[in-house]
Amino acid sequence: MSKVLVGITGGIAAYKSAYLVRELKKAEFEVKVVMTPFAGKFVSPMTFETLSGNKVYTDWDEEPLAHINLARWADTFLIAPCTVNTLSKLACGIADNLLLTTALAYDKPLIIAPAANTVMYKNPAIQENINRLRDMGHMIIEPEFGVLACEEVGEGKLADTERLMDWIFYSLEDKPLRGKKIFITCGATREYIDPVRFISNDASGEMGFSLARVARWWGAEVKVIAGFTTAKEPPEVELIRAVSVEEMFRAVMENLSWADVFIMNAAVSDFIPATKHESKIKKKEGLTLKLVKGVDILREVGKNKEDRFVVGFALETENILENAKKKLREKNLDMIVANTPDSIGSKSHKGFILTENTLEEFDSLSKLESARRILKRVCDNISL
Ligand SMILES: Cc1cc2nc3c(=O)[nH]c(=O)nc-3n(C[C@H](O)[C@H](O)[C@H](O)COP(=O)(O)O)c2cc1C
Repeated sequence: MSKVLVGITGGIAAYKSAYLVRELKKAEFEVKVVMTPFAGKFVSPMTFETLSGNKVYTDWDEEPLAHINLARWADTFLIAPCTVNTLSKLACGIADNLLLTTALAYDKPLIIAPAANTVMYKNPAIQENINRLRDMGHMIIEPEFGVLACEEVGEGKLADTERLMDWIFYSLEDKPLRGKKIFITCGATREYIDPVRFISNDASGEMGFSLARVARWWGAEVKVIAGFTTAKEPPEVELIRAVSVEEMFRAVMENLSWADVFIMNAAVSDFIPATKHESKIKKKEGLTLKLVKGVDILREVGKNKEDRFVVGFALETENILENAKKKLREKNLDMIVANTPDSIGSKSHKGFILTENTLEEFDSLSKLESARRILKRVCDNISL
């Protein structure tokens, strides 16, 4: 169980850290909280004591070496919200409270999530201090744009809990994919028959987004091209949208040369309407649709693969392994993940990871866990 130290400073967003601590506990992290004296004016330490199940630290009263002990205890240290006051002190090495002293005693990169009024945040002195912190190797979670507590609209809102959690995972994971560029397609394409009706499938994007999350945590630069999705988008990842298979094909080909690893997880339509009606088809007795084959994106990528590592997915109802192996060879892939239709749209799945010489079976894993398995296999097969 990893140990997360959450630092809380005196900003109006301090109440949001209560949700963060709760989410961290739900995710089975061990959590301790250190607060600046001013933070206690916004939220009571008792709230965090209850949610974290641990004593909350605000000064040295009971433990003279609290700063050293906390710094040694933590696997990762996130300061959220971080006031412009605290971030400026961090940039200058000032240590006039327990939180700041702990940060100085901590020997790994800090995760800093600033939140402030837009004008304060954009102040050149603050921007310079943020750049200094970045140059020192600390991670800055950019605040979001939105309506602020001061009723202004602008940049300065604390990153949402999901993004904060994502950075915590990022900080805790090894970086076997550092320096690699991973390009993932996911979701379902839509092939319009007329302006309102389309052919599609149940793909949610969960698998591709999970791959994108894990690849980022492992240090890769990640780009995703997604069709229609219902799963939560991964934070801090470049996301390009495509509706039809043709649009996805164009986006893939435009970005292919950028990638070291290409993972084709999108559920694209194999068949597309021969013609798209410009106006809505009127209700009538029956309708016969003529479908033609859509572009085979994976085959085209296989043809243009050069020295990039290409992973495909195969959804099979019968002879899973046999058909997957055939697809691996025919489409010039390096790896293929084979699974059954019950995986589509579901949170978990089972299946096989195949290369020309290896076979690994996985059973009812969450898509996040199977993303780890798949990317571990990719790491084993590419030169790092
Ligand atoms: C109501 C109120 C809201 C505040 N909100 C913020 C904020 O969101 N961000 C910020 O940087 N400072 C904010 N401040 C200013 C800080 O509280 C102030 O700079 C304080 O010295 C911060 O101390 P600390 O960084 O040690 O916690 C706010 C002050 C008040 C009174």
